[in-house]
Amino acid sequence: MSGLQPVRGTRDILPQEARRMRHIEDTARVVAARFGYEEIATPIFEFSDVFRRTLGDTSDIVTKEMYTFTDKGGDEVTLRPEGTAGVARMLISSGLTQELPLKYFYRGPMFRYERPQKGRYRQFHQIGVEALGFEGPDIDAEHILMCARLWDDLGLEDVRLELNSLGSAEERARHRAELVAYLQAHEARLDEDGKRRLLTNPLRILDTKNPELQDLADAAPRLIDFLGDESLRHFEAVQVLLKDAGVPYRINHRLVRGLDYYNRTVFEWVTTRLGAQGTVCAGGRYDGLVEQLGGKPAPAAGFAMGVERLLALWRESGGGVERAQPDVYVVHQGEQAQRLAFRAAEALRGYGFAVLTHCGGGSFKAQMKKADASGAPLAVVIGEDEAATGEVGLKPLRGPGGQQRVALEGLADAVAQCLFTEEEDDDGGV
Ligand code: HAM
Repeated sequence: MSGLQPVRGTRDILPQEARRMRHIEDTARVVAARFGYEEIATPIFEFSDVFRRTLGDTSDIVTKEMYTFTDKGGDEVTLRPEGTAGVARMLISSGLTQELPLKYFYRGPMFRYERPQKGRYRQFHQIGVEALGFEGPDIDAEHILMCARLWDDLGLEDVRLELNSLGSAEERARHRAELVAYLQAHEARLDEDGKRRLLTNPLRILDTKNPELQDLADAAPRLIDFLGDESLRHFEAVQVLLKDAGVPYRINHRLVRGLDYYNRTVFEWVTTRLGAQGTVCAGGRYDGLVEQLGGKPAPAAGFAMGVERLLALWRESGGGVERAQPDVYVVHQGEQAQRLAFRAAEALRGYGFAVLTHCGGGSFKAQMKKADASGAPLAVVIGEDEAATGEVGLKPLRGPGGQQRVALEGLADAVAQCLFTEEEDDDGGV
């Protein structure tokens, strides 16, 4: 343990950031709902096997990034590094394979023991969707359109779509043989990562960021040249729907994804505005995953976006959310006045007003300063005099009008009238 720092790769979310995050999540939730996706939540940890059996024995996540521990009952569990495997597990364990097709939306923290840097954390947040029981290219296109709509609703700019098809397992196997032969012929040029991957997951070498290997990866045998008619037709159909919808894309033959469960369509939304961690969203088809976990075969597709990365991009484009202001700030002095203040505040909250009751004492002057700073348009003022009569003072903090005395029973009406009149004035109305 090192002092009072948060664990490396984790971050506290302070109010301003929490508001922004909430805005992004809420906007995504609304978009997902408009497309018919229902919100679900799976546990933050699962039996480790759920991830081991699906993400790939040789994937970075399984080999080095999982937060795995044995719990007190002796079970080996893992903090979820991503959401898809857990949703597939849920489908099977909740008997939902009878109810396919299903469309789900989820959000929440994920955990990967990665080397932290800007935009890459050990605890981060994803928003994702999974559509299970859908075979056709339409759902792949729908997912991309959902993302495009979200970028639009958030006012995000400079997010580009990259697309590829990974074909079927057999098609990939044929490509792999040629790719390995090609890479072996150039083995001396490969870096350490490349040499290791040559034996374990050669496709990932295409994904290399090493500038010295770009020409080698560019000239490597392309997976698309190994796709059969069905896979090609599927890929073509996705592209037709994207073109119809006016969503521009670039086919990136080297887009392979770091998780093993994908087949056919895969995509990433990338930006150049965030430096090295420019992928804000990624997804694709995973037709074999549910079966691989022991369920009845269920074709499926989905995507997930990194909330921290979206947030950084949104901030770049000037996005922000103001702190919500209360309608009323209640100041009070004296014991009886405090009791009346609490009653008045609760009465107003009962009508749906946002009310801050001053806590922590202090002079009227100091309390009024706080009231002013809160941004509330109205103060309720209660001193000994008011407390004795059961009435309260109602004082506009912005705009014209003096303090008026109001009986507790009439307070909500008086507040409504002040706020309502103020809004009309703002609108230049009557
Ligand atoms: P992924 O590409 O591993 O895919 O992650 C999706 C997104 O999560 C990334 O594009 C990135 O924005 C964000 N992300 C990943 N790792 C980190 C990190 N360490 N720090 C910050 N952000 C990160 C998946 O997770 C798949 N489950 C997506 C999917 C859903 N495919 C089908 N359905």
